[in-house]
Amino acid sequence: MSTLLRLALLTLIVLLHISSSVAAARHDYGDALRKSILFFEGQRSGELPPTSASSGAATPHCATAPQPDVLGDALSDHGCWERPEDMDTLRTVYKIDQNHPGSDVAGETAAALAAASIVFRSRDPRYSALLLSRAISVFEFADRHRGAYSSSLRKAVCPFYCDFNGYQDELLWGAAWLHKASRRREYREYIVKNEVVLHAGDTINEFGWDNKHAGINVLISKEVRSVDGEADYLNSFKNNADSFICTLLPGVSNSQVQYSPGGLIFKTGGSNMQHVTSLSFLLLAYSNYLSHANKVVPCGGKSATSTQLRLLAKRQVDYILGDNPLRMSYMVGYGPRYPMRIHHRGSSLPAIPAHPAHIQCKEGTRFYLSPNPNPNVLVGAVVGGPNRSDAFPDSRPFFQESEPTTYINAPLVGLLAYFWAHGA
Ligand SMILES: *[C@@H]1O[C@H](CO)[C@@H](O)[C@H](O)[C@H]1NC(C)=O
Repeated sequence: MSTLLRLALLTLIVLLHISSSVAAARHDYGDALRKSILFFEGQRSGELPPTSASSGAATPHCATAPQPDVLGDALSDHGCWERPEDMDTLRTVYKIDQNHPGSDVAGETAAALAAASIVFRSRDPRYSALLLSRAISVFEFADRHRGAYSSSLRKAVCPFYCDFNGYQDELLWGAAWLHKASRRREYREYIVKNEVVLHAGDTINEFGWDNKHAGINVLISKEVRSVDGEADYLNSFKNNADSFICTLLPGVSNSQVQYSPGGLIFKTGGSNMQHVTSLSFLLLAYSNYLSHANKVVPCGGKSATSTQLRLLAKRQVDYILGDNPLRMSYMVGYGPRYPMRIHHRGSSLPAIPAHPAHIQCKEGTRFYLSPNPNPNVLVGAVVGGPNRSDAFPDSRPFFQESEPTTYINAPLVGLLAYFWAHGA
């Protein structure tokens, strides 16, 4: 080998090494993960436990609300721009019961309790058992008294929090998590018996606070792959999940999801980032299932590998953290540039120490319309994000772009935890 060639090769190796280590060090997923969790602390209200991380200067405005466990009246809440400490709108409590069924709310609650029981299984077996037994009774209630909370409590929950998609998916979602948590045969039988009745295969194009179909099929597909052959009766869930995943991939024949020129998943209607984080979460979960089963997804004539799905999910997370045409992070407090005028009452109104006097319902409007940055930095909040052409107005009245929500952050926590633990 000539010296020149050897030198060139050496340079190439060094360059490759540098570029791969630069790429790996680009984003601090651990920092983003901590911040994404801090956001949830900032969203709490009522009397907070002493361990709260947000009792300091970061979000003092969120520390106290009139009473714990009291819900707001959606219409009057939306009509006011007030601090939680000043809220004087109706705080009516609503509940579901036999006469006011809410299989959606109860099914979702059962799913969350069952999932949490898995998390605590080895750490705190007693708590885990309690979570599971509550999940079982809440699910029983949801199934015995079938109905949507937007029928039984229509005036309270609509138009803002209507169950547009029906309660059927939450029943299957609850059963799927209960099966995973308890391994009880009755839940598997429930899923098989109700697959068609509860429309498991319908509208699999979304995963979020209302529509669980994609999540149901992805979750149950794992059973099919892990027990190999024994769970043939659940095969339709795997096929549904496969074709759902194909709809997310750019360049395959049945691709349905759009991408912005800068590479962000884009779906019409409401906050886009909720779709980005939840669909990316499912891509990553599916990538792991595939890799354990040593399988690929057949998409028309092509097939997608577990690596492709993981890289697509990572691309979305990196876009959120700043790899985008505007070079800004869509997580408040992460990186050198992030949204300054988020659509968030507590963040945009002055904190109590800075402005002790009461701010009434409509008095907050001047802060809402102000061109100034928010006085309180709500660290970890991820906003609705840029529009279809990667543009972002950073303005409170553009709520679809500038509002943070718990359901944007929830799937992002899982994604960040994975990339923090495993790297790229
Ligand atoms: C996105 O926002 C920019 C700036 O406000 C605007 O010029 C552009 O037309 C918008 N794109 C779409 C697809 O709405």
